[in-house]
Amino acid sequence: MYICLCKGVSERVIKACLREGARTVHQVGLICGAGTDCGACRGVLQEMIEEYEEELEGGRTHLPWVAPA
Ligand code: FES
Repeated sequence: MYICLCKGVSERVIKACLREGARTVHQVGLICGAGTDCGACRGVLQEMIEEYEEELEGGRTHLPWVAPA
């Protein structure tokens, strides 16, 4: 599923950015380009970052990513 339509960036690629250490929307954009055009996906990117950080704090290795409404 694509998260950033402008740059054609999928959920899988965003997750890879988070695993590589991106912790802000800006950092995700630097790595894969997501969020660097119209900006419509930035809210979803922020949610994914927050969920990933919660996952790390909880020590879990998998979260059921929820599609944007
Ligand atoms: Fe991601 Fe436009 S949808 S920048």
